[in-house]
Amino acid sequence: MTNEAARFEGDWLALREPADHAARSAPLADRLSEWLKSADRLRIIDLGAGTGSNLRWLAPRLDAQQDWLLIDHDAALLARAREGFAAGSSGKPAIRAQTRCLDLAGLPREVFDDADLVTAAALFDLVSANWIDSLVEWIAHSGAAALFALTVDGRRHFVDEDGRWIDDERDRRMETLFNRHQQRGKGLGEALGPKAASVLPAALEKAGLAVRIDESDWRLGAADGRTLALGSALLDDWMRAVVAQSPEDAACVESWYRTRRNELENGRIGLVVGHVDVLALP
Ligand SMILES: C[S@@+](CC[C@H](N)C(=O)[O-])C[C@H]1O[C@@H](n2cnc3c(N)ncnc32)[C@H](O)[C@@H]1O
Repeated sequence: MTNEAARFEGDWLALREPADHAARSAPLADRLSEWLKSADRLRIIDLGAGTGSNLRWLAPRLDAQQDWLLIDHDAALLARAREGFAAGSSGKPAIRAQTRCLDLAGLPREVFDDADLVTAAALFDLVSANWIDSLVEWIAHSGAAALFALTVDGRRHFVDEDGRWIDDERDRRMETLFNRHQQRGKGLGEALGPKAASVLPAALEKAGLAVRIDESDWRLGAADGRTLALGSALLDDWMRAVVAQSPEDAACVESWYRTRRNELENGRIGLVVGHVDVLALP
């Protein structure tokens, strides 16, 4: 089993950002905002922050002034995040943001000192159950709230032009192989892949936090302007992962890929990718 550190291209994060923002749970953010409303100034830790997409979505939804610490092991992504702060720092509420280039595998516990909120987006499929247990212990100990968005839950299916699920045996096999591939180690122990969507809330509940879950699926409709670029990139990545997982199926995968790619390009199918958002309050 490989255990390579997970690296993401800034352009890929930019491509997915509109779908991420459209998918996120507003009710959970509202509940969080309500919970935090008495604070004058919030200290917020964003784990695996990339170029700062989570901040861009969440910060305007919280009323208080905010100090964000964006943590990632990729210095180039954090540099892009800082460019974004410099370009758009005049908003209300007042937001200060810093970045720290750190590997989440060796996160010092002090990072969580005085945190009001620990957050992350699109991170938990990369981590192990042990890593989640340590994180949850720190959060429970610190008394911070937690909002973890966009954890993939393993559902991915095509839809027709009317948004109806296309129930197809070959797609289901590709979904299964892809999900197995997602469990290869990514530098933080044996990656949970889509199991994270259930392991994470269970661990938070076990630690005594009040947990709420909401679906935050990507819904890339057939012939929607945004579907082609993101859907094609997803499909390419899906195909590569399945071939790596099951090289003996390469010919079958190739034929499946060509059919679906063609339908996607011609606006005949769209794609749904299942995610969950999880809010945990002390
Ligand atoms: C799917 S991206 C999500 C980025 C961002 N949260 C967003 O929503 O656009 C996962 C992020 O986790 C970071 N990451 C993965 N493994 C990490 C590790 N071991 N230490 C620190 N960051 C890590 C990656 O560099 C990447 O920025």
